[in-house]
Parts: sequence; C-alpha cells; structure tokens
Amino acid sequence: MTTTPLADRYGRVATDLRVSLTDRCNLRCNYCMPAEGLDWLPDDSVLTDDEVVRLITIGVERLGIREVRFTGGEPLVRRGLTGIVRRTRALGDGLELSITTNALGLARTAAALAEAGLDRVNVSLDTVRRDTFETITRRDRLHDVVAGLEAAQAAGLGPVKVNAVLLRGTNDDQAGELLAWCLERGYELRFIEQMPLDAQHGWSRTGMVTAEEIFDRLARDFTLTPASEPRGSAPAELFLVDGGPGTVGVIASVTRPFCGDCDRVRLTADGQVRNCLFAREESDLRAALRAGAGDEEVAGRWVAAMAGKRAGHGIDDPAFLQPDRPMSAIGG
Ligand code: 5AD
Ligand code: SF4
Repeated sequence: MTTTPLADRYGRVATDLRVSLTDRCNLRCNYCMPAEGLDWLPDDSVLTDDEVVRLITIGVERLGIREVRFTGGEPLVRRGLTGIVRRTRALGDGLELSITTNALGLARTAAALAEAGLDRVNVSLDTVRRDTFETITRRDRLHDVVAGLEAAQAAGLGPVKVNAVLLRGTNDDQAGELLAWCLERGYELRFIEQMPLDAQHGWSRTGMVTAEEIFDRLARDFTLTPASEPRGSAPAELFLVDGGPGTVGVIASVTRPFCGDCDRVRLTADGQVRNCLFAREESDLRAALRAGAGDEEVAGRWVAAMAGKRAGHGIDDPAFLQPDRPMSAIGG
C-alpha cells in the first residue's frame, strides 16, 4: 500500500496521532471543567471500538502515523481500552503507544495494558498535597494517583512522565516540591503552561503561570542546565536537574509556541479529525465511516483535513477565539 503523508501547507507532516477515547472524566479539575461536569457526547455519536481501530489502522497503514497516544477525557474510563491497545499493537511493533491519564484505576489496569502492548504512560498530577489535590480536582483521590504511578512503573510502562499545570494562588508555590517528589521516584516531570482550552472560558494571560516564572521558582531550589538533545518536535524543553541524571521539562505552549515543529493530528471520541488543538474546524470521519466509505476515501478526507492546518495557534492575536470544544473533548 502506498503511504500519503499527512502534510500541511507549511511543510509539516503529522506522524503522531492523538486519539480521544471518551470526553468523560472521573475528576473535575477546576481549570478543565465545572463541578457538575459537562454535557457528555451522546453514546451513539462516540466511535465504537471497531471504528476507532479502523481509523487508527488507516492512519498507520496509509498515512504514515508512527505514534499513537490515547487520551480523553480520561481514557481509562473507556471499557474497551485494553482491547483497542491490543489491536493497535497488532499493526506493528515499531508503533509507539502511550496514554495520557489521570491514573485513577491505573493500579488495577497497568499490567494488563503493558501486556496488551502499551509502551508508556503520561500521568497528569498537579500537586502531591492531598488538600491541594482535592481543591484542584474536586475529589479526594491523590492516593489512587500515587498507586497508579507506582503500578505503571512496576509494569514497565516507563519512563513514566508526569504532566503538571501550575495555577496561580493554588499550587504555583509547589513546583519545587513536586519536582523533588518525582525525582525521588524516577518520574519525569514536565510543567505545561495553561492554555485557553477550559470549558468555562476562564483562562487569562495574566492568570497563567509562565514558563519564565516556573524557571525562576525552580531555580530557588535546583540548578537547571539545558539537556543537550535538541528539542525537535517534542514540545518540552528539557533540563538536567543539579547536573542530572534527573530531568525536568517545561512546555511553554503559550509563551514559546512550537507550532512550527508540530507533528500531531487529533481524532475526537466522536470521530472528528482536528488538525490542531486550537482548530476551529473539524473533519467528520465518523459520517464517512457510517455512510460506508472505503478506506481510501476515508484516508483522502483525512489528508484533505490537514490542508487547512494553520501556521500557529494565534493565542496572542487579538482576534484569537477559543475552540468550541474544551480540552476534555479534544484530548491533550
Ligand atoms: N492547559 C494546559 N494543560 C491542560 N490540561 C488540561 N487542561 C489544560 C489546559 N487548559 C492538561 C491536563 C493533562 C493533559 C491532558 O492536559 O492537566 O495533563
Ligand atoms: Fe479529567 Fe484531565 Fe480534565 Fe482533570 S484535566 S478533569 S483529569 S480531563
């Protein structure tokens, strides 16, 4: 089969597919969704396991996808996750497979996921203090996340990465504490600048804790030196902590955008291709699937969806508009 690259007008080629498996979540992080949750996608609009696997197969076999990341919402709440991982792994040993998860329940599923062929996990954790965790996520579940992290590492789903968002007045004084905690356990911590993707549209540039501030705070307790590898398409700028081997990453999505090197494309749980987190248009692959389109036609629609990918997210543009879908319905 010939491969058509998922190229855009700016010469970027997407090889990293982010697949959202559900928009539901068992936490309610206050920078993500309101306490009562959101209007979830109706069940019949969510792709079935077979539909998800078919689209991933088209991506891998015809469109040059080399890496698949399962996201949500919370991907562990999707019942078929292990089966989807297993069927994706069957597409090739060279594929890199990971999930972005809040780790609730991971203690129970990590071994099965590893056995099914998952390579790595990225765990979202913004604090290691129980009270702050409950303030942010509105649930008293820190112990579950800690157990999930341990299980992931024990199952060989490493290097285990931890993603953290700092929120002014809530956990922005805890950056060093979180880093020390992760270093002790061998987890690779990355701080992510908060992006305007919350369902409540409460994001503000001034409220956001910048990469610059994160460096300043970490520099009080640690010596950070740039790690030698070039950043490439990986969004995290990596630093050795106190000479290494421990590292910390900072993902300055807003203040130092890496859109020029983007190699991602996203598929929502209801089967829409998004060429960018911040895209304002989507391409409906579910409709094509359910209308009986063949693989070639689906692939063609997917390629066409990339042509409209914009050069950058434009958050600093006065005309910037937040996408209609919140982060939880797009996937990280
Ligand atoms: N900006 C940056 N990161 C976010 N996440 C959720 N919402 C935002 C946002 N607005 C993170 C979560 C998780 C990943 C899926 O994205 O903390 O680590
Ligand atoms: Fe759930 Fe992730 Fe949103 Fe938190 S940030 S509510 S863990 S989807």
